Amino acid sequence: MKFFIDTANLDQIKEAQDLGVLDGVTTNPSLMAKEGITGRENIIEHYKKICEITTGDVSAEVIATDFDGIVKEGEELAALHKQIIVKVPMIKEGIKAIKYFSDKGIKTNCTLVFSAGQALLAAKAGATYVSPFIGRLDDISTDGLNLIMEIRQIYDNYGFETQILAASVRHTMHVIDCAKIGADVMTGPLSSITGLLNHPLTDIGLEKFLADHKKGN
Ligand code: E4P
Repeated sequence: MKFFIDTANLDQIKEAQDLGVLDGVTTNPSLMAKEGITGRENIIEHYKKICEITTGDVSAEVIATDFDGIVKEGEELAALHKQIIVKVPMIKEGIKAIKYFSDKGIKTNCTLVFSAGQALLAAKAGATYVSPFIGRLDDISTDGLNLIMEIRQIYDNYGFETQILAASVRHTMHVIDCAKIGADVMTGPLSSITGLLNHPLTDIGLEKFLADHKKGN
């Protein structure tokens, strides 16, 4: 399972990269705005900085919602760096653009996916990644993990190569459950990755080992 971090915060990306388990980064316009990154030029420069920190895939989201606009913006983003994945919303024009990009060998991440039918369309169009937002489904009392299960089954039935990128991950149990189901990738906050380190028995055990070692010296 690949681990992506879902942030535009450079310090957090570096911390995850330094841990040695990071496979990529996802961003979106809200995450950029949260870091105070506004304006086309600044956003472009920020993507370049992210690509310098991580060696993995970096999702960069288009703002346009019409086919020509998505294609223009996506081609510009893809030309920035070989690690850039063009993130395209799950809308009619987006699906057309994903097909266009796929035919041209440009990698894509189909975002804002909330149903199995949408995920099927994204795979048919040739998306590299599909991003079902499990946390946002949970927020409205709908089982986000069930969607991951449905997509896994559909993709396995037909051998679709589109990778299931479980997005809107909120905590460590989301990560573990997605791994059990067989999501190819998860993207979440730094805490959903570093939280996997924690167990009280590890802390107690280590404390005892170190104390016993000290007694013996
Ligand atoms: C996916 O790529 C999105 O950036 C993200 O996972 C959305 O998460 P949120 O629901 O926590 O905003």
